[in-house]
Amino acid sequence: MRIVVLPGDGIGPEISAATYNVLRAASEHFQLGIQTDEHEVGHASLKQFGSTIPPGLLETVQAADGLILGPAATFDFKDEQRGEINPSKYFRKNLDLFANVRPARTYPGLRNRLGDFDLVVVRENTEGFYADRNMEQGNGEILVTSDVVISLRRITRHCCERIAQAACQLAMRRRKHLTIVHKANVLKIGDGMFIDICREAARGYPGLEVDDILVDAMMAHVVRQPDRFDVIVSTNMFGDILSDLTAELSGSLGLGGSLNVGAKHAMAQAAHGSAPDIAGRDIANPFSLILSTALLLAWHGERTGAPRFESAARAIEGAVATAIQSGRATKDVGGKLGTAATGQAIVDILQSDKA
Ligand code: NAI
Ligand code: MG
Repeated sequence: MRIVVLPGDGIGPEISAATYNVLRAASEHFQLGIQTDEHEVGHASLKQFGSTIPPGLLETVQAADGLILGPAATFDFKDEQRGEINPSKYFRKNLDLFANVRPARTYPGLRNRLGDFDLVVVRENTEGFYADRNMEQGNGEILVTSDVVISLRRITRHCCERIAQAACQLAMRRRKHLTIVHKANVLKIGDGMFIDICREAARGYPGLEVDDILVDAMMAHVVRQPDRFDVIVSTNMFGDILSDLTAELSGSLGLGGSLNVGAKHAMAQAAHGSAPDIAGRDIANPFSLILSTALLLAWHGERTGAPRFESAARAIEGAVATAIQSGRATKDVGGKLGTAATGQAIVDILQSDKA
C-alpha cells in the first residue's frame, strides 16, 4: 500500500510525525508493506512553489493507494489566484471524496458527563454551502454591493443519493439505525429533497430504522442523550458542525477521526484544524489523525480483500483506547504526555500486542 503523507500547517507536522511512527509500527507488526511518500502542502509549499499545493502532487496522490492529510491553515488562504488553495477542498473535490465519515465514541477511563456512546456522522463532502467547491466556475459567494452578500447552497440529487447509500451501508454494518439531520422547515426544497432521497435509499435496506431531526434540535438531542444515535447523515455544513460537537462530547476535538471516501480514493484527515494556539509546543493530541489513519487502513483492507489491514486498524483503535485508559495520552484527554510521546505509547502498545 502506497500512502502519501502531507503534514500541513500548525500542529500538522507534530501530529503527522506521531501518526507516521504508528503507521510504520503497524506496517511492520501486521506485515502490510506500507510505503510512504511525504510532501509539503499549505504555507511551506506556498513559500517554496507559490502555491499551497506543489506542482504534480495531484498526479502523485491519484497514483497512490491512500492519502494522509494534516490540517492546513485554511483561514489564511484567501485568494486562489495567488496559489492560496485550501488543500482539504482541493483533494475532496479533485478526488471526488464525497463521503466524510466521522466516528465519535467514548472511552473507558476518560471522563464524560453524558454517558457512553458510539456514533458516526456521515457528512456530504462536495457541495452544500461550501462556496469554494459548489460551483463549476467562480465562487458560490457573491458580493452584490459592498453591503450585500449572497451565499449559494448547492444540493444535487446525485450527491444526496451517493451519501445516502454510504450512510445506509454503514448503518447496516452497525446497529441499523439511521438519523437524517436537516433544516427542511426552512430549506424546504433542498433539504426536502435530501430527506426524501435518504428515506428512499433506506427502503432498500430491510431492517434499517430511520428517523429525522432538525439540525438545531439535534444540538440538544445529541447533548441530552448521545447514545440514542448510531449513524447520522447530513449535508456538508451541518455535518461539519455536528461532528466537531460529537468529537468534543467524546472527550476532545483531538479525538475525532475522519475519513474522506470516494469511489476510488480515500483520505485520512484529522477532523480538527491546524490549532495555531498550541502549535510547536508538543501538546497537540495526535489521536484524531492516528484514528483517521486506522480508518484508511480498514478501507484499503476491505477494498482489496486483505483482512490484515482491518486487523491493523482494529489494533490501532484498541491501542488508542488502552493509552487513554492508562493515562498515556495528551492533557486534553487526561494524560500527561506530549504529542511525540503519545505517538510512541501507541507504537509500544502495538509492539507489545502479540495478537
Ligand atoms: P481548530 O480545530 O484548529 O482548533 C479549535 C480548538 O481545538 C483550539 O483551541 C485548538 O487548540 C483545539 N484543538 C484542535 N485540535 C487539537 C488537537 N489535536 N489536540 C488538542 N487540541 C486541539 O480550529 P480553529 O482554531 O478555528 O482553526 C485554526 C485553523 O485551522 C484555521 O486556519 C482554520 O481555517 C483551519 N482549519 C483547517 C481544517 C483542515 O485543514 N481540515 C479544518 C478546520 C479548520
Ligand atoms: Mg470542520
